[in-house]
Amino acid sequence: MSTLDNLARRLQELKQERRAIILAHYYQRAEIQDVADFVGDSFGLSQQAAATDAEVIVFCGVHFMAESAAILSPEKTVLLPEPRAGCPMADMIDAEALRAFKAQNPDAAVVSYVNTSAAVKAESDICCTSSNAIKVVNSLDAKRIIFTPDRNLGRYIARNTDKEVIVWEGYCHTHDHLTLEQFEQKKREHPQALTVVHPECRPEVSAAADHVASTAGMLKFVRESDAKEFIIGTEGGILHLMQKQNPDKRFYLASPDLICPNMKANTLEKTVRALETMEPKIAVPEEIRRKAVQALDRMLAIK
Ligand code: 13P
Ligand code: SF4
Repeated sequence: MSTLDNLARRLQELKQERRAIILAHYYQRAEIQDVADFVGDSFGLSQQAAATDAEVIVFCGVHFMAESAAILSPEKTVLLPEPRAGCPMADMIDAEALRAFKAQNPDAAVVSYVNTSAAVKAESDICCTSSNAIKVVNSLDAKRIIFTPDRNLGRYIARNTDKEVIVWEGYCHTHDHLTLEQFEQKKREHPQALTVVHPECRPEVSAAADHVASTAGMLKFVRESDAKEFIIGTEGGILHLMQKQNPDKRFYLASPDLICPNMKANTLEKTVRALETMEPKIAVPEEIRRKAVQALDRMLAIK
């Protein structure tokens, strides 16, 4: 039996002992996705975990995702297998910087992408995901919107709303790395393929794509499409599930550099160790949690 099989078996035993569930983001390594109870997008996973009676959540993703799980499930223990798995984009803003920016724009409402720390969520009027961002912005009474932290998603929203969007200059290294030239080259290599990209890509890349969607939206699009080939502009881990769900279709990553080193920092071995040691735990101070959950609840109230 291979090392991975042994680890997967040990994980099953520990899951029972600890009454734990394993969550894996679509960008996780294939062997982690294969043992997870739920594979999904960042916020959807936290919602699924909150709806279970598990006592322990092992979040195979990055730090802000584990925090979201802790915000929605304060009674559960949340573990992040690799504690240094952060999101560099989420780290491009903190609560203090946001407070100062709000003071400069007192009439603007603050919309923060779920890719933010709990402390930034707590300073925001409302949160959004990449799938509901335009709807969230349009639902607000304010005419001016501060959007944090992703400039590319912010500009994508600005193109699709009448409101003035003041964009925080954060970005995801992984998605922002993809240039229009690389994207066009990939299209020339696969002229039959439809192109689907995440809104964290540069505006000129999103503008040149057939479809722009969140991770869950991409999976739905390729499942429902009659096309047989797709060029995918998001983190490469998503190809594992795409291929599994659509064995008759072909998927090409828009660039070999579409890999998030933080997402890949979790391993099956670290996941097993997290359940053995019940560390590292991710917790959110109650005062911050209470405010952050309000920003998330406001988002969930929008139909
Ligand atoms: P989703 O919210 O679409 O899962 O994306 C998370 C993320 O980190 C994108 O880079
Ligand atoms: Fe953050 Fe980008 Fe990695 Fe997503 S892919 S976790 S936005 S660094």
